[in-house]
Amino acid sequence: MVYKPVLILAAHTGAAKDFANRIYQKLANHKNGCWRKYLLKEINIDFHPDKEIKVEILENVREHECYFIHDSSLYPQDWKESLLQVNDALMISDAAVINNVLPYMCYSRQDRPTGRTPISAALLAENIKSSGAKRVLTTDLHNPAISGFYRGISFENLKLGYTVLIDYIKEKHGDFLKNAVVVPPDEGAARRTSGYGKRLNLSSVSIEKIRDGKTNEILEMKIIGDIKGKNALIVDDIVSTGGTLCDAAHILKEKGANSIYAVATHGVLCKDKYGKSAKEKIEASPIEQLIITESIPRKDDGKIKIVSISDFIGEVIKRITHAESISELYEI
Ligand code: R5P
Repeated sequence: MVYKPVLILAAHTGAAKDFANRIYQKLANHKNGCWRKYLLKEINIDFHPDKEIKVEILENVREHECYFIHDSSLYPQDWKESLLQVNDALMISDAAVINNVLPYMCYSRQDRPTGRTPISAALLAENIKSSGAKRVLTTDLHNPAISGFYRGISFENLKLGYTVLIDYIKEKHGDFLKNAVVVPPDEGAARRTSGYGKRLNLSSVSIEKIRDGKTNEILEMKIIGDIKGKNALIVDDIVSTGGTLCDAAHILKEKGANSIYAVATHGVLCKDKYGKSAKEKIEASPIEQLIITESIPRKDDGKIKIVSISDFIGEVIKRITHAESISELYEI
């Protein structure tokens, strides 16, 4: 059987271009039993004058396995629409297998109805499936149960927190870890935080938020556990407006925490309804460093440290294209 080269595809402009190039370099220079060939190709993704999205596949993709590395720094609506149109264009162009690499899954916080609201994460899954994708690679989903919306195609929810982020913290912040506890900034982060605690061998301290029964407004925050004189590592999956993280940091400091670091996979880092940015809040908070991945492409900036994931994603693609295990990556 003759295997055609695997195509690594990204938009010709934008942040994913450099990311895709680094993934490609990892694959092209892979030593460990890598017998597939990989080629890096660009896709034209642009806008018509009226702002409709315009996609064009510039080269032959017929019968090639294609990995489209999407840019999660796009506005969610553009992200979704351009993804669907790229898949459609690849399908029309006769790609053998369409793989979507979506390091950050937009709409993952809209995963259940809350009153008269859509299940946007399920709608997105339906759209992606019907646009021709046969596999989706994403990372640290806000709710792992979202994978169920992708029934019928292959789906990988890669664990970046428990691999690249934990490795980074162990390597760079050994002294901090000697006297540290992990802290979930809210109840939703408890499970993920205990996963970090287990892997870093740290105990957990939690924050109880006492809310007004009618308005849901936070009336008081209490620390459950011993924080005085300890270093705190706040763990979350997403930092959006930064409110959850910074509120936790302030109360931890007030109750006597020593150094405060925070870690999360996805740095959405947007403005809140008052126009205040997550970055401004983090810079003004007691957090000494926020460690996030490049699942949404960014550069180091002030207290915000970006950890690269291109080698990890490259390794995953290598394993898929060689029919090797991905879960073994978590056992190394
Ligand atoms: C929510 O459940 C997530 O895990 C994060 O805690 C949340 O998205 C953070 O949002 P923000 O940064 O706007 O407080």
